[in-house]
Amino acid sequence: MRVLIGVTASIAAYKAAEVVSDLKKSGADVSVIMTEHAASLIGAATFRGLTGNEVRTDLFEGGTKRPLHIDLARDHDVLAIVPATANIIGKIACGICDDLLSTVVLSTTAPVVIAPAMNEMMYLNTVVQENIAKLTARGYSFVEPETGWLACGAEGVGRLASLEAIVGAITQAGSQGGDLEGKKVIITGGPTVEPIDAVRFISNKSSGKMASSLARVAARRGAETVLVTGPTGTAPPAGVRVIEVETARDMKEAIAPEWETADCIVMAAAVCDFRPEKVKNGKIKRQGNLTLDLVPTEDILSGLSADKGDKLVVGFALETDNEIENAKKKLKEKDLDLIIANNPLREGAGFGSDTNCGHLIYPDGRVEEIPLMSKLDLSEKIFDAVSARLGSIA
Ligand code: CTP
Repeated sequence: MRVLIGVTASIAAYKAAEVVSDLKKSGADVSVIMTEHAASLIGAATFRGLTGNEVRTDLFEGGTKRPLHIDLARDHDVLAIVPATANIIGKIACGICDDLLSTVVLSTTAPVVIAPAMNEMMYLNTVVQENIAKLTARGYSFVEPETGWLACGAEGVGRLASLEAIVGAITQAGSQGGDLEGKKVIITGGPTVEPIDAVRFISNKSSGKMASSLARVAARRGAETVLVTGPTGTAPPAGVRVIEVETARDMKEAIAPEWETADCIVMAAAVCDFRPEKVKNGKIKRQGNLTLDLVPTEDILSGLSADKGDKLVVGFALETDNEIENAKKKLKEKDLDLIIANNPLREGAGFGSDTNCGHLIYPDGRVEEIPLMSKLDLSEKIFDAVSARLGSIA
């Protein structure tokens, strides 16, 4: 996804850096235009550093073959103005193009997302509200500002919307035409926790990072993305519907209604294999040795494969020995369409790491080696395979 961010002169301009950084993390190619006044509030060097692309301000700077504003208008999937002042909203509503950003807005056919940030009196001013209504009717998307503490020292509406809301809106607008558009993907992640008594539980070290990367990539490629996750410290990506669960049973129950309308599930969750047979209501007292009777949890993947029809079921195999052999066995036993074998003992592939390595194994016996790469890059590879299979089914 190629994103063009227009930064205008609101105090919230510094928050645009976070938006740019988050989009880059999702694998988007991001470029920035700043208005002349925005340059008084935040430096171009910040955006140049974050995007790796030149930051533009001047309408008359040369493009490649065409004028710069035409190049910029054509070369992006989405244009987002973050933050947007009353001035830029007014200019767009009236068709004024007197600088690079306003000229690009008028020249583009890409979706335009506008995240206003300004003083409450300005935001609620009839002229601004009329301009917003006019632009909304013309198909521009607004990410409504929040109510809260404003830079002018007052409480009110006009605070730039949250990072999640803005990145979610940009991702949704920019992923139209993505290869997973029209598909629904469920991703599971994190550990499950199985209670022992009122305060203790059995769990594992899963960080949820692999699932978060998968969800980020699926959403960016246009899928309706549902992340069913056990408790993790990893923030879910924007543009993704999150269902939080605790136990393996909760996870199974949360997936069931979503699965009816889904096209694919990628099961990255580290589901506990055992749960205590009995859970004490109160707290177990410390009285000598304690023996727990553990019983197996439900195998969620196998249950989903049983009636999958045309749906794709993708699993992970966490193996510390005989990775490929064991993963092939799981692929067969669980009737999967793809399995990713990984070994948490390998350097860079452990729980909590931002990288992973291993093998992609297909039902026809094909084994593709995955060298050490970021979990985002691995997610792209997994969805390349999913997309190819879904494309051949459609
Ligand atoms: N899985 C599942 N339900 C479970 C356990 C695992 O759906 N109760 C899923 C995992 O999310 C993963 C795949 O099955 O996608 C394989 O999980 P893994 O832990 O590698 O293997 P297990 O099936 O649990 O077998 P073992 O622990 O004996 O290796």
